[in-house]
Amino acid sequence: MAKTVTFISGKGGSGKSTVLVGIANELAYAGKRVLIVDTDTGANCLDVITGVGEGAVFHWGDIFSGNCEIADAIYPSRQIENLYVLPAPKEYDKRYHTGILKDLLRLLSVYFDFILIDAPAGLGDNLTLALEPANEAVLVANDDNFSLKVGKRAAQKAMMMEKSTTLVINAFRTFAVQTGLLPSVDDAMDITELGLLGIVPFEANLNFNASQGIPYIRGTRATEAFERIAKRLQGEKVDLPEQWY
Ligand SMILES: Nc1ncnc2c1ncn2[C@@H]1O[C@H](COP(=O)(O)OP(=O)(O)O)[C@@H](O)[C@H]1O
Ligand SMILES: [Mg+2]
Repeated sequence: MAKTVTFISGKGGSGKSTVLVGIANELAYAGKRVLIVDTDTGANCLDVITGVGEGAVFHWGDIFSGNCEIADAIYPSRQIENLYVLPAPKEYDKRYHTGILKDLLRLLSVYFDFILIDAPAGLGDNLTLALEPANEAVLVANDDNFSLKVGKRAAQKAMMMEKSTTLVINAFRTFAVQTGLLPSVDDAMDITELGLLGIVPFEANLNFNASQGIPYIRGTRATEAFERIAKRLQGEKVDLPEQWY
């Protein structure tokens, strides 16, 4: 049975999709079978980041509408073995009541080791739909008071749904923290009331995008952080590095 993890943020632009795909890539490189499920109907871009974009015709809405079979909407990555994407509909439809993804992903969980769900921004029904299938949730927030505060509200929703939730601080800039301009890691944990799953450093050229031919490069500071988080999701104990730069 797959471990199903929903990535939440409360607000857009914190790097949730980037972090999710980075972790999914690293899990797949480790030999795990990984399904990425996009539920961010407004900003659905996972098919683009992973490079299945051009060929993606169907999405999970089509499965429920009877427009296609389940397998028709699941696209293999052209770059990375073991990695698959289930795209999101372009718009939310009233028929996509909460619960529908939960049933579908329960069926699919026997075929995968990990199912990673990209939640939409916002705190409404779409977030409920994205959280329902999950065993646990990960809040991806930037290290600033606004991102952490909004993120906390999404995390509270996850906790109310009994999903244990951890924090990934993304685009972390050591210098800004040292000068006192931004919250420390401890502050971020205090504000969100979450335990830390990982820290991803700011990396100016982290805009991998398989559809545009911009490859995912392993072994950079940010992608090594994805690798460590992927290991932690597999139950390994991996320490934070002592130096960030
Ligand atoms: N660790 C990082 N360092 C630098 N830029 C990042 C980092 N993570 C994400 N980004 C950039 O931030 C932008 C928003 O990322 P995205 O994953 O689309 O956010 P979200 O899904 O939360 O809206 C993208 O241009 C992405 O390349
Ligand atoms: Mg996104």
